[in-house]
Amino acid sequence: MTAVTVQAPGRVNLIGDHTDYAGGLALPCAIDLGITIRGERNGSVIKLVSDAAAGTLKLDLTSSFDIASMQPPWGRYVAAVASELEPTIGLQGILRSTLPIGAGLSSSAALEIATALALGFEGEPMELALLSQRAELRAVGVPCGLLDQSAIIFGRANHALLIDFSSMSIEYVAFPQNLDIVIVHSGQERALVDSQYQDRREACEQAAQLIGPLSHADKTSIQSLDEPLRRRARHVATECQRVRDAAFALRNSDGAAVGKLMTESHRSLRDDFEVSTALIDQLVDRLVARPGVFGARVTGAGFGGCVVALCESGAIADPNELTGRGWIVHPSDGATLSA
Ligand code: GLA
Repeated sequence: MTAVTVQAPGRVNLIGDHTDYAGGLALPCAIDLGITIRGERNGSVIKLVSDAAAGTLKLDLTSSFDIASMQPPWGRYVAAVASELEPTIGLQGILRSTLPIGAGLSSSAALEIATALALGFEGEPMELALLSQRAELRAVGVPCGLLDQSAIIFGRANHALLIDFSSMSIEYVAFPQNLDIVIVHSGQERALVDSQYQDRREACEQAAQLIGPLSHADKTSIQSLDEPLRRRARHVATECQRVRDAAFALRNSDGAAVGKLMTESHRSLRDDFEVSTALIDQLVDRLVARPGVFGARVTGAGFGGCVVALCESGAIADPNELTGRGWIVHPSDGATLSA
């Protein structure tokens, strides 16, 4: 019998959305909200309860199981990881979450990575990221990129991660102490994420087949595309440039410049990539109008969920004040396993 405690943070993406699966760039960080699994590894059954939802997940590793019908619903992620990892030893424990679920802060990737580590994953960090990506596809059919997993696994306290998904290289960018990251939940549950996500991804793939890698596509070749591919490609190309510029500005502790790029990113996600909602747009406008807020944008896949704002330290003293659900978060270390 082995006692295990695993902590997996969520992530917030400061800038660079819908670029990962197109081989582009993003600038996320792991955050100090996350998922903890505390338990014991023994026997051949996974038995987990969660403090965030009712029900007990029971999964017998000695017989076949159907991921899609797993109850409670979060059990699909655990089952998908188990079918990827094929552990021979079970796990009994408690899952606690300080992360809002399905809000664009990577609760599912955090759960997958926490589960894999708790079930005894041994291997390279990148293999863990790929395992979680495959599990996401098995669990809910979303062909996600590697943004969430990379931030959760490679996160570092007080740093953002500049990730280049064409080479999977990561540069750490110190996060200035005089800036706050404020996350505000729109109150709108994410809708259409699965089907629309796949649609956007396919559009990017089609565009790339016609004009080459979107992260470096020039204006003329983007202009040669028909709609809606033209706007989808323009988002990816301009977003990658904004990420490069934002990383540069963050290194210079220029919060105003990073914030401006974030708000521009939001407009591009709203108009060119069409993954925002009216409620999210209003929330971005309200945040940007506040003194001391440098910029704001939808974060993650979109279609609801959370907005991230970059602010002068202390500019938003009470993050709950806007919608009743907000957090001031800090760039944090990646997932950890302790005995
Ligand atoms: C979700 C996916 C990521 C990424 C973002 C959008 O979080 O899991 O891979 O594509 O959406 O940037």
